[in-house]
Amino acid sequence: MQIAVVVNGEEHVRDVEPRLLLVHFLREDLGLTGTHWGCDTSNCGVCVVHLDGVPVKSCTVLAVMADGREVRTVEGLARGADLDPVQRGFIACHGLQCGFCTPGMLMTARWLLDHDPDPSTEDIRAALSGQLCRCTGYENIVRSVRWAAENGSEAAS
Ligand code: FES
Ligand code: FES
Repeated sequence: MQIAVVVNGEEHVRDVEPRLLLVHFLREDLGLTGTHWGCDTSNCGVCVVHLDGVPVKSCTVLAVMADGREVRTVEGLARGADLDPVQRGFIACHGLQCGFCTPGMLMTARWLLDHDPDPSTEDIRAALSGQLCRCTGYENIVRSVRWAAENGSEAAS
């Protein structure tokens, strides 16, 4: 069936199979491979994108469910060379090692700071609790989000 989805501000019209997952639509149909795919069980959270401003695990959403709606992916965080504060925070605080979990972490962190510009460590841990990192032990990820809160929590514009 035909769907029209606005992704990072640009409308895409495609014919898709009804069973196609949003994560595969983004990665394979649109070539937006910044959104990762890490499990088949909705556990890891590397696939988080914003759907109409709400973070969702895109492996649990059908592409047809995004018809007529807006999706924001990690590619939509920066504005040109102007990185989002959460991206700068992950750089400043070494919030990643292999980077596989990072897109989902960034998208959830962006949503958190949009709703709570001064989250506590506990708030950050709770917000990120749906996402797994196999490398960092989470400490630097939490520090990265705090850094973004303290150094301009607003999205790049
Ligand atoms: S790919 Fe693991 S939760 Fe979506
Ligand atoms: S940095 Fe490797 S999984 Fe998180």
